[in-house]
Formats: sequence, structure tokens, C-alpha cells
Amino acid sequence: MCGIIGYVGHREAEPILVEGLRRLEYRGYDSAGVATLTGPHLHLRKRAGRIADLARFLRDRPAPGCQGISHTRWATHGPANDRNAHPHVSSDGSIAVVHNGVIENYAILKRQLQDAGVIFDSDTDTEVIAQLLEQHYDGDLVDAVRKVLGMLKGTYGLAVVSARQPDLIVGARLGSPLVVGVGVGEHFLASDPAALMGATENVVYLQDGQMCALRADTWHVFDNNHIRIDAPIHRIDWDPIEADKGSFEHFMLKEIFEQPEALENAMRGRLSDEDATSHFGGLNLDARHLRSAERFVFTACGTSYHAALVGEYLFEELARLPVEVEYASELRYRNAPMDRNTIVLAITQSGETADTLAALRESKRKGHHTLALCNVVGSTIAREADGGVYLHAGPEIGVASTKAFCNQVSVLMMLALYMGRMRHLSSIQGLRMLKEVRALPGIVRRALDCHEQVQEIARKYYHVSNMLYLGRQYLYPVALEGALKLKEISYIHAEGYPAAEMKHGPIALVDGDTPSVFLIPSGGVADKVMSNLEEIKARGGPVIAIACDGDEELARHIEERADDVIFVPQVPEYLQPLVSVVPLQLLAYHIAVLRGCPRA
Ligand code: F6R
Repeated sequence: MCGIIGYVGHREAEPILVEGLRRLEYRGYDSAGVATLTGPHLHLRKRAGRIADLARFLRDRPAPGCQGISHTRWATHGPANDRNAHPHVSSDGSIAVVHNGVIENYAILKRQLQDAGVIFDSDTDTEVIAQLLEQHYDGDLVDAVRKVLGMLKGTYGLAVVSARQPDLIVGARLGSPLVVGVGVGEHFLASDPAALMGATENVVYLQDGQMCALRADTWHVFDNNHIRIDAPIHRIDWDPIEADKGSFEHFMLKEIFEQPEALENAMRGRLSDEDATSHFGGLNLDARHLRSAERFVFTACGTSYHAALVGEYLFEELARLPVEVEYASELRYRNAPMDRNTIVLAITQSGETADTLAALRESKRKGHHTLALCNVVGSTIAREADGGVYLHAGPEIGVASTKAFCNQVSVLMMLALYMGRMRHLSSIQGLRMLKEVRALPGIVRRALDCHEQVQEIARKYYHVSNMLYLGRQYLYPVALEGALKLKEISYIHAEGYPAAEMKHGPIALVDGDTPSVFLIPSGGVADKVMSNLEEIKARGGPVIAIACDGDEELARHIEERADDVIFVPQVPEYLQPLVSVVPLQLLAYHIAVLRGCPRA
């Protein structure tokens, strides 16, 4: 995800901008740049590659001035090179723009501008904004931005400066987060409050459709009718120590190891022996309404979608409630019939994912009660849902989501218990579940003991080009998650499948160079998964099995057939996703490190 940071004040902007970009580095990027101003002179410096490359370039060619904007880019329109890096500047060199999001109608706008003689310097959608601003600038940058926004279709978090008004930064938000950092005699603009750590604790979250105008001494926010409003200032609850890598080499590894503690935080104050159930403060739905809910739709993207799939099994088994899980990117454009008693639950770590937000808004528009499971407190989705539950996983800095998945699944488990106890679960069953759920942090801590063994296995397989992840029932979404972690972090092609589906075609992919990771359940369909494993062995595919300890006969059987077996603690089937995902996260991490992939 791209990052934005802007500064206007009394200090040199360049070091503040570069430091802010470093704080956003964890998000991943492939180029970075800054534009600063000294009076009417705009200084543009940008580089493909790491922030260290930009910093080296700035040592030779500093960017002077007390105001500027900067950006880290993940290439979407055009390759990752110096030309396509942000900021983008208008042809006359007067206006610079950094942008997160996608301008959907950029091709039409670009053609119109080119027909009018404008020469473009990059392949990006963002440059269209800079060129349009030059055309519509009439002495007032705020006004020019307002006019140009009216021509854009798509999403944006935007920061703009002009050499003709060098005391001003203009920001705008639609579908891509932006916060104003309020200081004394200085102001900041950022796509993520994390970039402001150490600079200010006071932030103003812009809402969709809002714009801001920042000068050293003033900050103004305008609503979507262009009327100045009093936007509330929030204090960031951010513990800088938590954002430190500590003794870990990468944030991803640190966050994998934080899972036991994250689970404790997710459960704290939410489990009640007295009522043999769980409690949540923010659902904003009374028991009568919850009892009359006939169906849930869970919506999310990526890893959060996989947590939602685990949630589907949990809700159906424990609460006997039908659940449909929809990619948010599909739900937002679908017009599926949903009856009135359907509750829509959005699941998201950041609370800012554009598709999840759009799906939530579409569901609200259709009159459904909406809930959200969010990690980031005060995020847009957390604010816009009718009610919800915070994940309390702590800041997730690593690019790959790990501890948020863990807490999403555990909160879904507690919600399933809550809904189940309202319907058909007895107090005895409720108490048994509470006991099992309370033991989870310790069990996940034990699951982490496989770390060194996983590292060994990673050494065996880090050179492969393809991998398969196979599981059934509760472990099928975990197979999908294992495959996503590997592709995202190590750039190895990986697929997750329900194990029994292999024989319907995909087994053709299996050969001696394609390892399969098998997630073997402790009960239920264990025998069936073992016969799926035989099918893979018959085609000469190497097998890494993840299995629960405790069942000696099954363990022997697996050891005879698999090339490697990682044993995780024995737990009831509905808890297995949380222990089985641990070796998969570690495997993706170690393979990525061995391949020298920078995103770990
Ligand atoms: C995977 C990952 C992504 C996110 C997805 C949704 O490791 O990080 O797949 O899970 O982009 O993000 P949130 O949960 O913030 O809505």
C-alpha cells in the first residue's frame, strides 16, 4: 500500500518527510519521492527502489524548504521506475501531487489532455491530476483541487502543493485514508497516523469527501459541500515501544510471536463463567434483535476473508446460524437478495480497506444492520459500522497479516459462542467452550515451539516455484491462508485447495518439485485427508504434514507417509485453525528470508 506524508512549518521539511516515509516503509513499496518548496521554486527528488536510495540521492541533491509532500509507491499504473515514482508535477513545473488510490477514468482524461497538447512524463493515473490542476489553477489551489476532484472517478488520498502558493498543502480524501497531524506552528498530512509518530499526537481523521488546507499556523477542513467545518481532534493511542522490532529481525516474525499475547488481549473482559458465554460492549444490538437474526453475511478481503471462512464453520456449528462469506470486492457490486433479518459483518485489520468499506456502506444503504471486526481503533469502518468488536491485536506493522488473523478467528469464536448461547448451546457446553478458549494463548505459545523445525523445512524447499496447501473443513480456510502468506511474502506461486478437490483436476500439477502442505485434523475427516495424502505421494509429490500430537496411531501413520511432519498441540477441531496456522506463517516467513525477499 502506498504512503503519503506532508509537512508545512518552520523546520526543514526534507528530514521530516524522509523519517515519515521510513515509518511507512513496513507497508511495502517500490519507489519513493519528495517535493519541497522554497518560495516559488519546487524541488523534486524521486527514485525507484528503497528509501535508503532516495536518502542517498538527497545527500547529493538536497530538497530545501520548510514545506513539502512525499510518497512511497507500489506500482499500479506503469512499472516501478524513477519516472513513475510520485510526486508527479504539472508540465509547467508548478504543481506537485502525491496520490494513493486509483483514478478509474484516467485514460479518458489523459487522452483529452493529450489532444489539447499536454505532454505526459509518466504512465501513472496520478499525473492526470497534476496536469488537470495546472489547467484549472486560477490563483487559489484549494479551488483548483475542488474543481479537479469533480472530474475524477475512483479513489484518492491526495496531497498537493503549488509553487505559486508555497505556504500551503491541500489534502483530499475519498476511499483512501488521510489524517492531519496538528502541531504548534507546523502541520502534517499522512495516509497513516504511524507516519506521525514522534511528530505529533494530535490528529484529525479526514472523512470521505473532505478536503483540508494546511499552513504553518492554521489547518482547515472542508466538507463535501466545500463548507469549512470543525473537525474533532483525536489523540493517538500509540505506544512507540510496541512499534519497535525488539530482538526480532522483522516485524512479521515479531508479530507471529506476539499471537499468544494478542489472544489474551482479545479475550480480556469478554468471557463470563457466570453466564457461560462471552460479552461484547459495542454490538449496539439488543438480545431480541440478535435472536431474530436469521442469517449473517461476512465480508472481507485477503487474510480477513480467510478468517471469515473459519467464522462460517464456527457460526454454523456453534450457533446453528447460516452464514455466507463474500469477498467485499464482489459484494459491493452484487445485488444479491438478502432478507431483512440478515446482519452484515465486515472483517478488517486496518478498518480502511476500500472494498470492505464500500461493501459495508452498500449494506447499510440497503437497510441491513452492520457490524465490524476491526483492529485499528477509530478507523473509518470502525466508525461507520452500526456496531462492532475491536480485535485488540496491537499495531500490525508487518506487510503480511498474522496476529490480526489470529484475533479475528478468536473473536469470531467468541461471537459464535455468544450467538450459540442465545439459541441452543447449554450452559454446560458454554462452560466447556470457555475453558477451551481460555487455554488458547498457552496452546499457541506451545505451537510456536515448531519454529526451528520449520526453519529446517524452509531450507529444504525455499528454491521451489510452486507449492500446494491442502486442508478440509476448519482447516480448508487455513490452507488458503498458508498459500496467501507464501505468495505474498516469498513470491512463490502457491494454491490452497480443499484436499479432496485435488483429484478433480489440480492433481495434474503435482510432481517431485511441487511440495504439498497437508493440514491433518485430529478427528472427523482425518482418515479422508490421509487418503488425499496418498494420492499426492502416488504422484511423487513431497509432503509436509501439519498434525496434532496426542494420537499415537495417527502420528505413526502420518510419519510413515509424509516427508516432514510438524506436530502442533492437540485441540478440539474448532480451535485447530489457530494452532495450525502458526507453522504456515513461520514457513512463509523463513522461505521469504532465505529467498532474500524484502517484504518479510
Ligand atoms: C495478507 C494481507 C491482506 C489483507 C487484506 C485486507 O497478509 O495483509 O490480504 O488481509 O488486504 O486488509 P484488512 O484486513 O486491513 O481489511
